[in-house]
Amino acid sequence: MLNGKVIVLGVTGGIAAYKAATLCSRLVQRGADVHVIMSESAKQFITELTLQTLTKNPVYSDTFDERDPSVVSHIHLADLADLVLVAPATANVIGKMAHGLADDMLTTTLLATTAPVMISPAMNVHMYTHPAVMANMETLVSRGVGMIEPGEGLLACGYIGKGRMEEPDSIVEVVERFFSERNSEPAVKLDKGGDHSMEANLLHGKKVLVTAGGTIERIDPVRYITNDSSGKMGFAIAKVAKQLGANVHLIAAHTDEAPPADLNVERVGSAEEMYEAVLRQFADSDIVIKAAAVADYRPAQVATSKLKKLGETMTLELVKTTDILENLGQRKSSQFLIGFAAETNSVEAFAREKLERKNCDLLVANDVSQEGAGFRTETNRVQIYDAKGLVLDLPLMAKEEVAEQLLKLAAERLGRRSS
Ligand code: CTP
Repeated sequence: MLNGKVIVLGVTGGIAAYKAATLCSRLVQRGADVHVIMSESAKQFITELTLQTLTKNPVYSDTFDERDPSVVSHIHLADLADLVLVAPATANVIGKMAHGLADDMLTTTLLATTAPVMISPAMNVHMYTHPAVMANMETLVSRGVGMIEPGEGLLACGYIGKGRMEEPDSIVEVVERFFSERNSEPAVKLDKGGDHSMEANLLHGKKVLVTAGGTIERIDPVRYITNDSSGKMGFAIAKVAKQLGANVHLIAAHTDEAPPADLNVERVGSAEEMYEAVLRQFADSDIVIKAAAVADYRPAQVATSKLKKLGETMTLELVKTTDILENLGQRKSSQFLIGFAAETNSVEAFAREKLERKNCDLLVANDVSQEGAGFRTETNRVQIYDAKGLVLDLPLMAKEEVAEQLLKLAAERLGRRSS
């Protein structure tokens, strides 16, 4: 899968640096040419010799360690890379990247490269949730840096929470998916035999606002309520909309995977943050697609410190969140509004009721109890409704194909409206 791909692997100084050895080994086994750059503090956790032996390439850490006089090392590696992956990425390197600092070989290479960049953060849970770190990560994501979110569990510092570097096998999967998506044909293949140049421009000049993922409603600094949304459907819509020529604004809450590489993403956490972000973009949007799974309720109180275990039972009071889609339905003027409905029964009845209540132009309904449909799958099986009833009943297909059909329908209807 990774044959011939040059991956520059940045290893920074956290305990998870020990996982870099397995990561190197897995990437090399899959055919990648891996060049490691370590930060000085990473060397406290793992040796250069280990990574050099696994990659069969020299390991760099000193910007001024010029081994080949015909090239400048950090520029050479930056140019050579098909991907720069920083794993583990500490809070420190994330901060430096966000602010454009270049005080060692890795951060200098990161500034010099035009290759896609992914990071796999690893740190203590409080560091991870610190507003400064969060803001830095949001900055990076908004610049198109791929984020391989850390997992939750027992951290090396003894805390349980989010911050554990994703396992090397999962990182390799993300990297492979990234390259296979980049190598695949553009997804614009509607109406085969039609005028493809026109289709590629179907949404030219249109602003498409897409929401994706599941919102996170905090209980305390280490706990939250979320849902099973992976963000895949919203990401597929954003990606295809861009291929169709649209100016895409993607607002993503919690997701399992990195967003499409060349899109600007605005990261949000809670339903309330998503609401505010959506409102900022709504006025000049042409098409608004609410694929996100927004929490209907959030904790009435958010504890500022970790809640302690007190009794045999615990009651959490929840209050309703703003229904963003319904709110947009009331505000809309020329915007073409598309909602989603994930149901487990009476799909048509619920879908049509939601479409009317939320004043949508189209509503995409899926029965998430069916195999291959809904959350976390690569495929979906949907019906698309308008105010008069069923418009499209699509068979099981890849989420990108669903996105194509949906966007084509929206573009046609928008075109009809303006003509
Ligand atoms: N939605 C929203 N804001 C909310 C809840 C939902 O914008 N607070 C949007 C979702 O993004 C989706 C649509 O509304 O496009 C339908 O979401 P769903 O959860 O199925 O609908 P609800 O109105 O919450 O109905 P219920 O949970 O009772 O089925």
